[in-house]
Amino acid sequence: MAVLFHSPDEDAHAWRRALEARLPGIELRISPEIGDPAGIEAALVWRPPPGMLRTLPNLRLIQSLGAGVDGLLADPSLPEVPLCRLVDGSMTRSMSEFVLALVLKYHRRLDLFARAQRAGTWAFELPALPAATRVGIMGLGELGTHAAGVLAAQGFTVRGWSRGAKELPGCTTFAGADGLTPFLTGSDILVCLLPLTAATRGVLDARLFAGLPEGARLINVGRGAHLVERDLLAALESGRLAHASLDCFAEEPLPPGHPFWSHPGIDITPHVAAFADPDSAVDAVADNLRRLRDGRPLLHLVDRARGY
Ligand code: NAP
Ligand code: GLV
Repeated sequence: MAVLFHSPDEDAHAWRRALEARLPGIELRISPEIGDPAGIEAALVWRPPPGMLRTLPNLRLIQSLGAGVDGLLADPSLPEVPLCRLVDGSMTRSMSEFVLALVLKYHRRLDLFARAQRAGTWAFELPALPAATRVGIMGLGELGTHAAGVLAAQGFTVRGWSRGAKELPGCTTFAGADGLTPFLTGSDILVCLLPLTAATRGVLDARLFAGLPEGARLINVGRGAHLVERDLLAALESGRLAHASLDCFAEEPLPPGHPFWSHPGIDITPHVAAFADPDSAVDAVADNLRRLRDGRPLLHLVDRARGY
């Protein structure tokens, strides 16, 4: 089976080695050296240029190399073949690790101490117990559910919000539009782990911030377009939000001169919260390629109408 690989920031040869070890005979064609497009049956991709997949007439599977598929779905010429997203233990664990690190930063007031240091102030303050810090997770899918478990195990009070109702051990859950206000009221730290869809674009806006406790902290590890940037700046200015940690941006890399770069209330990371290690993620990808070959149901199919 010939398979296209396109993910410019990843080690394509590590993927080739890992896939060949699991699927002897697989022919991985690394873009831009794709050979005869008619021979390609599956595409393993992260952020392919719009139009790229349309040129493959015999494509039968688009396997995203990321959890989020908003970038793929934004391509109006995306072929109408099954689209699967990546669900992988290494990615899930790295997201939970990242979210825990940021929650601990806020729980232990490291943002306030960093600000006090810049002002030359000895801002002595002892932390409360973790249970006194309420963390609200927007999105209880593969990543949000795992992060909720890790935070609960650390002793935090964890709340979660999803589209449909869910029950999670150690987590108070809320769902849908009616659940949003009560969810926000009790979230001292808000974590966005939603997929970017028509329904969630711009969800982190002034109205939502107004529903949080005064001085709440925001962690956005979903997508940049979840956030209304000017509303964040206004919320930080007014004190409604005390601080924000942003990993994703509407434009990446974040352009030079953007007001977020120098804002004392914003910490920036360059979209690194979670990544798939080929030696781990290859199992999920190889599984779907085998399923395609054998005509068995594919895993983690995206519902294009829902957008995730
Ligand atoms: P997932 O398994 O598809 O879960 C999505 C969750 O969001 C589900 O709980 C879903 O509710 C909920 N949701 C969707 N639309 C909603 C709405 N309108 N209102 C309320 N809840 C809604 O996705 P995942 O694997 O956890 O990944 C989530 C996102 O994380 C990705 O799409 C991507 O944007 C982001 N991500 C970022 C990085 C990074 O490095 N920063 C890395 C990986 C992923 P239901 O359970 O009711 O369906
Ligand atoms: C990364 O942002 C992903 O969606 O996997």
